[in-house]
Amino acid sequence: MTIRLRTLAIAASLLLVLGGAGAGLVVWLGLYDISASDQHTAPVYRVLDYAMRRSVMARANEGAAPDLGAAQRVRRGAAHYREHCVQCHGAPGVAPDGLALGMTPAPANLVATARLWKPAEMFWVVKHGVKMSGMPAWQYRMSDDEIWDTIAFVAASVSMTPRDYAALTQAAPPQRHQREHGAGGGATLVSASARGDPDAGRRAAHHYLCATCHVIPGIVGANRHVGSPLTGMGTRRSIGGVVPNTPDNMVRWLQNPQQFDPASAMPALGLAERDARDIAAFLATLDEVH
Ligand code: HEC
Ligand code: HEC
Repeated sequence: MTIRLRTLAIAASLLLVLGGAGAGLVVWLGLYDISASDQHTAPVYRVLDYAMRRSVMARANEGAAPDLGAAQRVRRGAAHYREHCVQCHGAPGVAPDGLALGMTPAPANLVATARLWKPAEMFWVVKHGVKMSGMPAWQYRMSDDEIWDTIAFVAASVSMTPRDYAALTQAAPPQRHQREHGAGGGATLVSASARGDPDAGRRAAHHYLCATCHVIPGIVGANRHVGSPLTGMGTRRSIGGVVPNTPDNMVRWLQNPQQFDPASAMPALGLAERDARDIAAFLATLDEVH
């Protein structure tokens, strides 16, 4: 009996090892076609789509949905939608822009989504985005309230004709007001002395594409050498070799490097003051071993 159990256990572990090696081989040989010009195979698509749906359902519980029926909200949402979303998702009577047409997965038509998803689930996806799909996280450019406006519009768009949509977006010019969050040229609602939050800073550094140019400990995929590695930044004396490394200077550097060094190849990325403070706090935690 025990011998039989042992044989079974050995056979099972052998199978596991073989399975792992097989999967490794598929990856190493580059057998899976990751091109966006060919769609996923049906099983891969189903697994990814189902995993995305389950992941959203498990997380979408950030507060109760406000009343989404108010005409005001829908009108404001239509303006946000036209500014940020129609390019990829289209709208009643409006095709997505050219850039959306080559995307895999293809951006869904949200009329179908609004019929199946709860508002809180759509809110979560818009706020946090979807990895490896092209759906951006909007949390740094839209406030929660603006996202709810947009969801109110998406929910209402289910029964809209192209004429309704045209009338709605004509009535609502895009509002580029200053935001608490966002790239609005560094909107400032936070006092200069407020201290940043390193964890929020690590997330914001990911969001503002710092990893596309710098090696940064603690950020997955940050392995490019366009700018210098930020390893040990918290212990350095100067920033960019031009200004003393103080928290305030770092915030200013991150918001606009060229004010210190007009020849700097680092662009001003439109960081809001709070995000710059959080990122500066995160960078200050990087010592020689990190
Ligand atoms: C750069 C293109 C792009 C932009 C801009 C964009 N999205 Fe998306 N969105 C996607 C892609 C790609 C997906 C994932 C594929 C899919 O639709 O399932 C997605 C998924 C979604 C989903 C889940 C849909 C579903 O059925 O799976 C919602 C809801 C959504 N987006 C809403 C929005 C809203 C609202 C905006 C504007 C604030 C927006 N998106 C802006 C590309 C975009
Ligand atoms: C397009 C590429 C690019 C992006 C994106 C970028 N940087 Fe830079 N960064 C550079 C370059 C190039 C330098 C060196 C510039 C100089 O010294 O004038 C630099 C310098 C720096 C420095 C000073 C480094 C030192 O050695 O003193 C810091 C700190 C920094 N970047 C942080 C960031 C953070 C945080 C982000 C994201 C908010 C970011 N960078 C985004 C290219 C980039």
